Amino acid sequence: MKNLNGKVVALTGAASGIGRCLAIQLAESGCHLALADVDSNGLQETIKLLLSANKVSSHIVDVANKEQVYAWADEVVAEHGHVDIVINNAGVASTSRLDEISYEDFNWVFNICFYGVLYGTKAFLPYLKERPEANVVNISSVNGFFPFPNNGPYNAAKHAVKALNQTFIQELRKTNVRITSVHPGGIKTNIVRNARFAKGGEDKADLAQEFDRVAGTSPEKAAKIIIGGIRKNRKRQLVGKDAVVIDLLVRLFPQGFADLVGLAFEKKEKKLKN
Ligand SMILES: NC(=O)c1ccc[n+]([C@@H]2O[C@H](COP(=O)([O-])OP(=O)(O)OC[C@H]3O[C@@H](n4cnc5c(N)ncnc54)[C@H](O)[C@@H]3O)[C@@H](O)[C@H]2O)c1
Repeated sequence: MKNLNGKVVALTGAASGIGRCLAIQLAESGCHLALADVDSNGLQETIKLLLSANKVSSHIVDVANKEQVYAWADEVVAEHGHVDIVINNAGVASTSRLDEISYEDFNWVFNICFYGVLYGTKAFLPYLKERPEANVVNISSVNGFFPFPNNGPYNAAKHAVKALNQTFIQELRKTNVRITSVHPGGIKTNIVRNARFAKGGEDKADLAQEFDRVAGTSPEKAAKIIIGGIRKNRKRQLVGKDAVVIDLLVRLFPQGFADLVGLAFEKKEKKLKN
């Protein structure tokens, strides 16, 4: 979708990080916004940062709740008249090993990261199909093509989001709806601070600090790259140099790279226990 001016965008996870930066930059491009999140204070903060010329609506929506997402889609069209772009961005993470994680924590991550995207896509599709051109942008991750240890539910959800995106691309080929599968590497946001942590595992503040140190891309840059992907109707969008490198390593050395990463995590866990 080359021209974003005047387009109506429905965006989840708009209260923080990549979502907030997407909202700001989409508003600067002339878009009208329907912003959703579970964090009402964060949403209000985002709205304060937007250009006032655009029409903006805010909605408290838990993306893991199918009824709420479908009701939101209807509300967006009632308030804005139509919708042109949907960005399923809301996401959460956890830090436990798969053999130790509770089903409650597993489902929390999976329901938001996977079902949130499925509901967000299916709820809006009938409305998107009515438009001359429309885009769905579903945020996966590098974890959508390479699983990192201590991220089991996130890896599973993000792989599933990638599969969903690829299926939608095949099935919607002859329609007006373009799908972009987005795969960011480390982006300096609140994702680790908002994660659920393993009991007796890494300290939250330490890990958040370590993540801020290694995450190579700012959320502003990530949003810019994602919007570039929308403008070019990209089917797949990597975000950050680390994502490009990991993508290459996975293709060149699928097992060798996985073994190396597994070894590095094992060493780190040993160090933590001593
Ligand atoms: N930060 C990274 O390194 C990174 C890397 C790859 C992919 N991603 C993905 O990018 C997306 C945005 O994450 P971020 O890094 O900006 O994190 P963030 O924690 O800064 O923002 C996530 C937002 O999602 C919202 N949210 C959480 N649960 C929700 C729910 N049930 N319903 C509605 N909103 C909910 C949060 O309130 C928050 O505003 C996520 O899908 C994440 O998995 C992030």
